Amino acid sequence: MRGLLGPREVPRLWERHVLNSVALAELVPVGARLVDIGTGAGLPGIAVACVRPDLRVDLVESLLRRTDYLSEVVDDLGMTARVRVIRGRAEDGQVRDKVGSAGYVTARAVAPMDKLVKWSFPLLKPNGSLLALKGSAAEDELAAHRALIVRMGGEIVGVKECGVGLVEPPTRVVQIVRR
Ligand SMILES: C[S@@+](CC[C@H](N)C(=O)[O-])C[C@H]1O[C@@H](n2cnc3c(N)ncnc32)[C@H](O)[C@@H]1O
Repeated sequence: MRGLLGPREVPRLWERHVLNSVALAELVPVGARLVDIGTGAGLPGIAVACVRPDLRVDLVESLLRRTDYLSEVVDDLGMTARVRVIRGRAEDGQVRDKVGSAGYVTARAVAPMDKLVKWSFPLLKPNGSLLALKGSAAEDELAAHRALIVRMGGEIVGVKECGVGLVEPPTRVVQIVRR
């Protein structure tokens, strides 16, 4: 992984990272547009794009070394027609212009909930969903940022468990709809 994941992560790459990311796909309907912010070495954006050829996916990542890697992977996997790599910060206007508005924004290990809501809402259509992979801290984060989420017009759908029977523990995803 060219130093994009720590060496300690290699033995648990499949279960803890790839399957954990793939599980999210069950929340995304057929034919949707999805924007993954802070994709890093490809999670969850590349993993979801691999198992869901019906989706159009934008991978937004701020670091050049990572976007270079992501572009190479998208090319190698023959996904350039439906997966774009966009270098920049999710909150930047230029990124917003490129992305337009999507039905779904995903993020895994990128930022606290308040930032994710602020960054993702401008990229979402009305009634679009932010899907944030948050693990065991999900409820605490929601409680800490509930007031801001509501003030911004977000409806907290809740914490969903995905990948039951596929990955242990199941993936915990916070879903917030932009109303
Ligand atoms: C801890 S890594 C997680 C990467 C990947 N999502 C994963 O689960 O393995 C966070 C990534 O988010 C990127 N990032 C952080 N803030 C960002 C922002 N505002 N816009 C775009 N990318 C961002 C960082 O460069 C980094 O690659």
